[in-house]
Formats: sequence, C-alpha cells, structure tokens
Amino acid sequence: MKRFADKVVVVTGGASGMGAAACRLFAAEGGQVVVADIDGDAATRLAKEIGGRAFRIDVARENEIRDLMAFAAEGSGRLDVLFNNAAVGHSATGRYKMASIVDTPEDAWEGIVAINMKGVAFGCKHAIPLMLAQGGGAIVNNASIQAIKGILGADAYTCAKGGVVSLTRTLAVDWGPRNIRVNCVCPGPIATPMIQDLLDDPAVGPSMYADVPLGRAGCAEEVAKVAVFLASDDASYVNGAIVPVDGGMYAR
Ligand SMILES: NC(=O)c1ccc[n+]([C@@H]2O[C@H](COP(=O)([O-])OP(=O)(O)OC[C@H]3O[C@@H](n4cnc5c(N)ncnc54)[C@H](O)[C@@H]3O)[C@@H](O)[C@H]2O)c1
Repeated sequence: MKRFADKVVVVTGGASGMGAAACRLFAAEGGQVVVADIDGDAATRLAKEIGGRAFRIDVARENEIRDLMAFAAEGSGRLDVLFNNAAVGHSATGRYKMASIVDTPEDAWEGIVAINMKGVAFGCKHAIPLMLAQGGGAIVNNASIQAIKGILGADAYTCAKGGVVSLTRTLAVDWGPRNIRVNCVCPGPIATPMIQDLLDDPAVGPSMYADVPLGRAGCAEEVAKVAVFLASDDASYVNGAIVPVDGGMYAR
C-alpha cells in the first residue's frame, strides 16, 4: 500500500539534500510532489526524474508562498502534506555571514530569519486553509539539533531554528483539533551540500560529529525517512513532536 497515493505533497528546499531525498521517497510512495526551491533548474530536473512538478520560490517572500500553495492545489484542490524544509546554512556564508552572536551583522539576521523562520511560518499560514478545506493534513518542519541543544557558535541560524520548534508546538495545539498534525525534525550533522565542505575538511569534519554517539554524520535519507513517517498516516497520533534525528547527540 502506497502511503501517499493521490496525495499532494509540497517540499520546500526540495531540490537538494534532505528535501530532495524526501521528494524521492514521497514520489515512490505515490505522492504527487511539488519540488519547490529557489534553484529552479535543479527543482525542474528533480521533478522530471520523479514525475512531479517544479516551482521556483524564495520562501522569504510571502506572495511567492501563496502562489506555491495555489499551484500545488491547482486541479485537485488538495494539499495533504507540507514539508517546510528550505533554509540557508553554512554554505550560504557568501550570502549571509554566519558567525557568533557578536559578529553577525543586522542584514544577515534579517536574511536568515526571513528564510529559516518566516518562510516556515508563511508556509504554514498558506497551507493550513487548504488543509482545513479538505478536512486535515500534515505539516513537518525542519529545524535543527541547534534549536534544542546548546551548540557552539549560536547565531541567527540557531535563533531562527528555535522559532521553528516553538512554532511547531503552538501550531500543533492550535490546529490539532481541526485534524492538522504539525511535527518537527531536528537533524544533527547531515552530509548534504549545506555542510559538506566542513565535513570534508580534516581539521573540522570529525569535530562536527565528535558528540554523536553513533560516531558519524547522518545522510539525507536518514532524515527524510523520519519526515516522511511523520507526514504519513502511520504517525496519525503524533502531533507537536520535536524529533531529534541526530545519532544520539541530544541524549548526550
Ligand atoms: N545539513 C545539516 O547538517 C543540517 C543540520 C540540521 C538542520 N538542517 C536543516 O535541514 C534542512 C535541509 O538542509 P540540507 O542540509 O538538505 O541543505 P541543502 O543546502 O542541501 O538544501 C537546502 C535547499 O534549500 C534551498 N533554499 C535555500 N534558500 C531558499 C529559499 N530562500 N527559498 C527556497 N529554497 C531555498 C536550496 O536551494 C537547497 O536546495 C534545512 O532546513 C537545514 O537548516 C541541516
């Protein structure tokens, strides 16, 4: 039985890393996937591969998120799953400076918070009315282990991800009574383009998973499988959960 047969699934940041892995899993389970990403070419390539649809979007812009949800629901009128996954991290340092709190300039705060936190909030804002209209849905947000554990180098990324965790809890309480489940994954270090350069640096890489009891970085599929589970009916009684996917880092 395919868990997402006839379901419309939107994945933001769907063209790379965990988002791309999730798109492939949702599609393999019958989902009609919308690959939404600021990298429109990569989104188009993946959508072609999995038989889905692509949508170029900057999640920092509310009007684009509104258009994304309308695009997803076009034809079927449905929106069953939203995986709010897009974010900028280390590899976007050319765009926004990511440093300690004393070194993060105001424009970086604004840029990172707009993408990593407001993008998630706007995604929920424009998905929920469509989900309500069809009697329910499932939202999974991608935060970070940095949101729930003190990790060196707190900056705008850490703060924005903390907001995602808080938003997840409050939306789960607000909308659970209307059959919309909202959950969150908190990945540890995962080998994706976001941090691959750090992992590949012998002077830095091993320190990134020194606190991970499993002794390694995770891979995109290991997070995507949890996100897909949370979005599926197999998780029908899971709501407001903040789930570390971190090889045990949070437990330490
Ligand atoms: N890689 C890690 O170690 C790690 C750890 C914890 C949390 N996360 C979180 O996991 C999620 C996925 O990250 P990843 O590691 O797969 O990274 P990734 O860089 O491989 O993928 C991120 C995707 O988001 C897209 N994106 C960036 N800005 C966007 C915007 N403004 N609008 C739309 N799309 C945008 C990128 O083009 C890219 O395709 C992110 O929320 C990230 O913060 C990553």
